[in-house]
Amino acid sequence: MHTTQAWWDEIKSDRAKLEAWMRRQYIGEMAAVNLLSEVLLRFGAEATLNEWENVHKVMVQEAIHAKWMRELCDREGITLERNASAERKYWAEVLPNVHNFREAMAAGFHAESMRLERIRTIANERDPQFSDFAATFTRILPHEEWHEHVFDQMRQGNDLTQYHERGLEALSLLLTV
Ligand SMILES: [Fe+2]
Ligand SMILES: [Fe+2]
Repeated sequence: MHTTQAWWDEIKSDRAKLEAWMRRQYIGEMAAVNLLSEVLLRFGAEATLNEWENVHKVMVQEAIHAKWMRELCDREGITLERNASAERKYWAEVLPNVHNFREAMAAGFHAESMRLERIRTIANERDPQFSDFAATFTRILPHEEWHEHVFDQMRQGNDLTQYHERGLEALSLLLTV
């Protein structure tokens, strides 16, 4: 069993792993913008105007997170991948089961919950060597907490837990939260 803290301790102590994870994090933030854009293209008409605005606001915040990742990578001397594309192992399991706006919100809710523990763990880091990471993820945290909350509201009880778990298996992720 791999706890989130154990995961972070391992990443912290291995520079190559830390750099690889940061590159993936940048990709993940940009991929979230793409995925939410797809949600609004496919199901935008099913959302109320207020819900549409919520999804749009999340999209804008994910794009800002990508910028903060880029800036942190620059400060850490980490070069982003060239021609990167978002591998969608997780989403390949989840997206075929999304058929309407509510299910898309359920998928968003599970994805946000999954990532929140890691963000919280890094935000809580007190080692001065990682203070820039802690500060950046502390700025991201309230946005991500709001994303989880607002997706939870908009999913209106829809659940994709089964596909979420398959997605985690596809990523070989075992998270204890
Ligand atoms: Fe984000
Ligand atoms: Fe988010």
